[in-house]
Amino acid sequence: FVTIKELYRNKEEYIGKTVKVAGWIRTSRASKNFGFVELNDGSFFKNMQIVLSDEKLENFKEITKLPISSSILVEGELVSTEGAKQPVEIQATNIILEGESDSSYPLQKKRHTLEYLRTIAHLRPRSNTFSAVFRVRSLTAYAIHKFFQDRNFVYSHSPIITGSDCEGAGEMFRLTTMDLNNIPKTEEGHVDYSKDFFGKEANLTVSGQLNAEIMALAFRNVYTFGPTFRAENSNTVKHASEFWMVEPEIAFADLEDNMELAEDMIKYIINYVMENAPEEMEFFNNFVDKGLIERLTNVVNSEFKRLPYTEAIELLQKSGHKFEFPVEWGCDLQTEHERYLTEEIIKGPVFVTDYPKDIKAFYMRLNPDGKTVRATDLLVPGIGEIIGGSQREERYDVLLDRIKELGLNEEDYWWYLELRKFGTATHSGFGLGFERMLMYLTGMQNIRDVIPFPRTPKNAEF
Ligand code: 4AD
Ligand code: MG
Repeated sequence: FVTIKELYRNKEEYIGKTVKVAGWIRTSRASKNFGFVELNDGSFFKNMQIVLSDEKLENFKEITKLPISSSILVEGELVSTEGAKQPVEIQATNIILEGESDSSYPLQKKRHTLEYLRTIAHLRPRSNTFSAVFRVRSLTAYAIHKFFQDRNFVYSHSPIITGSDCEGAGEMFRLTTMDLNNIPKTEEGHVDYSKDFFGKEANLTVSGQLNAEIMALAFRNVYTFGPTFRAENSNTVKHASEFWMVEPEIAFADLEDNMELAEDMIKYIINYVMENAPEEMEFFNNFVDKGLIERLTNVVNSEFKRLPYTEAIELLQKSGHKFEFPVEWGCDLQTEHERYLTEEIIKGPVFVTDYPKDIKAFYMRLNPDGKTVRATDLLVPGIGEIIGGSQREERYDVLLDRIKELGLNEEDYWWYLELRKFGTATHSGFGLGFERMLMYLTGMQNIRDVIPFPRTPKNAEF
């Protein structure tokens, strides 16, 4: 079988020849002696038109009656149809039925709501929207690997089961091998979590960063790219319990280098996807988010702004806008603040830097003012935060003080502290939320619609 993508891309080679394709019927219509099937074989966003004629096809009647989503094997001549909607079509001479679909197949021609499609996650990849989203997801993952590999970064796998809490926020899914009918208790009568993992405490990772730091202090430039988990009960359009994160970590590099890398990466991804998925991007531009392509093109051609947190707070206060959650120095930026800043004030992506230390993680480098840390979040219109990163605290004593100050258990971080004892170096890194990047690229408004099988609170079907 040849793919439909190949027939579209290299049509000159095939026109006038007999070709064989295999796929699923997307639409079908017929009159007495003629019929048309739109066939999709998964290789390409577009369908191939199959022309059926009573004269050439033995089983003409049977094929024209097939319900949508039946799978068939088609043999026929590829003919040029310049000027028509499609540049080519196949005039079938032989069609074999593989799997007849039941007429109850739910994806009929009318448009369905995204909410409904979520309830049929086993079939939604066959719809136009999800065919486009999941192909772009695959290409984006490839673009990320290509970006880093071309720059000689070492790809390092970080563990999913871990004893540490990278963010120190306690938002971890616990993992247990304990006998739940006979839960081990501490002397005070509490559940003894130290017995979780065959007798050790363990949870699912919230971030691969600490492991990436280990690798960066040996390889200099590394990245991890894998699933991460957050046990926060957030029911929003941009939070998932399981999501993928891209986390580069670079040694002998400060926050400026970090932001430069993030900006280059975002632009590279956008360019790559626009070049390699033009049909899908056109679909998003027409049916999901009008003006998407123009906006992304502007992003690629502009310089991302850098704005200290303190100035961001001043701008938000001066705007006079009434926020649900009032803005004041020291508060964590809420999605409404992030969006107002990027959509109304900056009108584009912005790196907000130097956040108050009290709202950020323990590992961020303390600034000389003693109040802020070398953090940066990349905020974009329509979503808010897509990247969180920082320059890491490389000074042993300062880091130890922070760990103690935050009431974290010093022994849990012995190896992390040792990195600062054996040839410490300035180093930085960030985490890109892969699904948020996909929302930005496609204009899809809900994180549940950019991952094939979303995991959000109470949702683990499929
Ligand atoms: O800002 P976060 O929590 O940063 C970290 O985890 C750092 N350790 C990363 C690093 O420096 N290596 O998360 C990073 C990004 C966020 O900006 C967001 O895009 C995404 O991960 N993210 C989520 N995406 C979907 N659902 C959630 N619940 C998310 N939480 C964070
Ligand atoms: Mg963050």
